Amino acid sequence: MKINTAEFVISNSDVSKCPQDFLPEYAFIGRSNVGKSSLINMITNHKKLAKTSARPGKTQLINHFLINNNWFLVDLPGYGYAKVSKKTKSIFQEFITDYFEKREQLVCAFVLIDIRHEAQTIDIEFMSYMGESEIPFCIIFTKADKISKVKVNAHIAAYKKKMMANNWTEMPHHFVTSSTEGTGKDELLQYIDEVNQEVFKNNSQF
Ligand code: GTP
Ligand code: MG
Repeated sequence: MKINTAEFVISNSDVSKCPQDFLPEYAFIGRSNVGKSSLINMITNHKKLAKTSARPGKTQLINHFLINNNWFLVDLPGYGYAKVSKKTKSIFQEFITDYFEKREQLVCAFVLIDIRHEAQTIDIEFMSYMGESEIPFCIIFTKADKISKVKVNAHIAAYKKKMMANNWTEMPHHFVTSSTEGTGKDELLQYIDEVNQEVFKNNSQF
């Protein structure tokens, strides 16, 4: 799929104020600093569509981007950032969970995982929550440029093992990406294109 247009639409912390258009949307979620906003910029060919920062906690709201006037990409705040105050942290979690539980247009979430690190409990728990809530999701491994190809494969194999140990019967569909090198862009866009075609064909709400 070719990205012809990518426009920022709205930021907010209230799911009821998200765009009312009934278009399929894809949300990027994961730990703070994992590379959610950078990946949105990479796949849309924009340097500054979504705001990025080397410091965790940059994205603090639900951000909607309209792609090709046909579907939405959603940039979300990260979870697991220890430096935000307890009060702010619980507000983040509340509106994020609200988003996942109420947003009917959400057809797939992408859970981003830094390929360099061992499986973290917070990510495994978040994916369990997605599974229990029956929200379709894929895993996107990020920052693949930071380790060798051999290590990338070994880390994915270790991740799979960890998921099996946590009662998953199979590894979710996954992608390997690097925002600095453009890795994984075609695969990700092709996947979104296929899901879009399927939902437009089979889901009368869209
Ligand atoms: P929050 O909004 O704080 O939750 O973070 P985020 O997940 O949106 O991360 P963001 O895209 O802001 O990136 C965090 C840092 O990681 C920035 O310094 C990026 O330049 C860097 N980064 C993101 N993706 C990659 C990547 O694929 N490779 C490398 N080398 N650095 C990356
Ligand atoms: Mg961000």
